[in-house]
Amino acid sequence: MFLRNYWYVAAADTEIGRTPLARTILGEPIVFFRTEAGEPIAFEDRCAHRHLPLSMGKLCGDELQCHYHGLRFGTDGRCTRVPGQEHIPQGARVRTYPVVERYRWLWIWMGDPALADPDKITDFHWFDDPDWGAKSSYLHVEANWQLVVDNLLDLTHLAFVHGTTIGNMALAEHAKVNVTRAPNNVVMTRWIIDQDPPPTFAKVGKFAGHVDRWQIIDFVPPAFLRLDVGATPTGTGAPEGERVGGIGMRNLNAITPETETTSHYFWGQAHDFDVKNAELTNRIFEQIRTAFLEDVAVFSAQQRNLNIFSDPPQVDIAADTGVLAARRILSRLYDEEQAGSRVAAE
Ligand code: FES
Ligand SMILES: [Fe+2]
Repeated sequence: MFLRNYWYVAAADTEIGRTPLARTILGEPIVFFRTEAGEPIAFEDRCAHRHLPLSMGKLCGDELQCHYHGLRFGTDGRCTRVPGQEHIPQGARVRTYPVVERYRWLWIWMGDPALADPDKITDFHWFDDPDWGAKSSYLHVEANWQLVVDNLLDLTHLAFVHGTTIGNMALAEHAKVNVTRAPNNVVMTRWIIDQDPPPTFAKVGKFAGHVDRWQIIDFVPPAFLRLDVGATPTGTGAPEGERVGGIGMRNLNAITPETETTSHYFWGQAHDFDVKNAELTNRIFEQIRTAFLEDVAVFSAQQRNLNIFSDPPQVDIAADTGVLAARRILSRLYDEEQAGSRVAAE
């Protein structure tokens, strides 16, 4: 199941340059490059002639030349040159996709181009906001995108999967959880009051005693999860909105389906303390990366089982409240999109 009329993260801005980059998104092979002026371009990665991937070709100025018989395609996807003939055959063009650079990522619109409004790009300003230190990265994941969404909406797993990094038992046993739902949004707020800080927080926050810790997970369809996490010394008023004397971070996630069983996982970590300290930014990032690799092992193992067995149905538990709310939104949006494209086709 893919939702098409959305902006997805296609690449880090630094990945796109003068060498064509091939990447499959929502099952479609796409090739990315930049013009000489630096403008990002996305084509379907399939030559109009004999369907060789255009990513095997090379750039000639702002035109992409196919590796096989040398057809060239301009930035609008139209063929501009066929070696050995004057006439450009009708239909000699490749599909182009709307792309926008924002927050140090390249975003791509996978649906009806007429609906591609850049104002609809999900906010990830923490990556280029001078008030935050941040670093982002990419993981290729052998799992369906919804397994990654599920994982990020269920933070009780921190106690089990991440016991040596960002989790401790206090999370599973002592947390107060509140879930707010809107038509296209789920926010899960979890407070862990008067408990030991987890190992990562203890290191970077230099806490002497117990902390009040929050995790606020903001889910926006199809697959954006922005986690507001932090801790302050217990009793200093964080639950009432006073965030002083502690640390605040954002864990930022954008999952882009590659195929039904693989995903591009763009993520990063931002912090609101000592923001110019690149060494600290890196240290925090590396700790979270260690934890994320633990997650990748989990959802790729789930996917291997899902590839083999489709029943019995999965059992739900109380900790799945956020997961189930998000799944309901996604399946409603999918139905709406399918109904919309049926209407458009009629
Ligand atoms: S396949 Fe591309 S030019 Fe022939
Ligand atoms: Fe995790």
